[in-house]
Amino acid sequence: MSVKTIITGTGHFVPPQVVTNFDLEKIMNTSDEWIRQRSGIVERHHTESGVGSSDLAYEAALKAIENAKIEKSDIDFIIAATLSPDYYFPGIGVLVQAKLGLADIGALDVRNQCTGFIYALSVADHYIRAQTYKKILIVAAEVQSPNLDYSDDGRDIAVLFGDGAGSVIVEANDNDDDRGILSTPLFSDGRHASELWMEKPGCKEKPFLSKEVLEGKRYRAKMDGRRVFINAVEKMPEAVKIALNQNGLTIEDVDYLIPHQANERISLMVAKNLKIPIEKVIRNIDRFGNTTAASIPIALDEARSEGKIKEGNIVVLTAFGSGYTWGSAVIRF
Ligand code: UT7
Repeated sequence: MSVKTIITGTGHFVPPQVVTNFDLEKIMNTSDEWIRQRSGIVERHHTESGVGSSDLAYEAALKAIENAKIEKSDIDFIIAATLSPDYYFPGIGVLVQAKLGLADIGALDVRNQCTGFIYALSVADHYIRAQTYKKILIVAAEVQSPNLDYSDDGRDIAVLFGDGAGSVIVEANDNDDDRGILSTPLFSDGRHASELWMEKPGCKEKPFLSKEVLEGKRYRAKMDGRRVFINAVEKMPEAVKIALNQNGLTIEDVDYLIPHQANERISLMVAKNLKIPIEKVIRNIDRFGNTTAASIPIALDEARSEGKIKEGNIVVLTAFGSGYTWGSAVIRF
């Protein structure tokens, strides 16, 4: 029998401030109708100044730890995924470690944007199966609101993104019941890096910061929305099919699909492409917007706490985003 990795706890946390489409209408050139039609988003959460992604990650981690019925001190490794760290460096893994008071254990930061949680889960799965670590905390957290551009230059992005965090605890499954992470195929294509990126600050040009960088808004996230959309609806289904094939499963075997919550229309097209009934596709973008790395663990935690996901269910996660990076995970719960 080979060791498998199971998710024993999940948690999520979003900052209390809710920002509706109508709130955005008051500060920028957009409309509730445009946002709903193009993305399915109704509202999202924004932090107050002074709250970082490590703070949201910490709150989500506490919930996942409680849900897994373990002690903080049982955790022997941390993996953190974010594209919006508190600081340029260090990453948020060590900040979460310090907030939890877990001295000396390793903390790894993953920089794979919307696919960050799936990359983190894949790394954790391999550590658990190699018996390197016993209980790994994964956090995925984003605070995007401080760098949104509410002018016409940035309105495509400003309305889509939200702040939030999700967390899971993974451990080895010692029972011979075949439950656990079955596979996590990962992909990337860096030729498209500039189609969805935040170019600055970066260490390629001197001076590090300049008037031109500030005036050209090169520190804002930029996205070729149509290119990203087209690739997302193609690559996520591909990654799901590959993961199912690797395990001799078909789409009929899937109880729930949790796609990265990038856009309601993307999720619907992914479902159509895969021919999976829409009731099996977990969607919550209406309430959270796109929370990048955090979107899948937030949706997973909601689905578990609503009692949707039952023991033995096949759940497939898939994501696509900046890099490009994409991937999927097939899990028998
Ligand atoms: O997490 C992964 C990363 N992101 C994504 O997956 C997002 C992928 N892309 C998308 O979701 C969509 O491309 C968007 C929602 C970003 C845009 O939807 P679209 O149907 O592709 O719209 P568009 O880019 O074709 O823009 C249509 C129009 C433009 O005006 P013109 O050029 O037709 O006059 C935009 O300027 O909508 C305008 N527009 C807006 N109007 C009102 C762009 N943003 C807004 C806005 N409010 N917030």
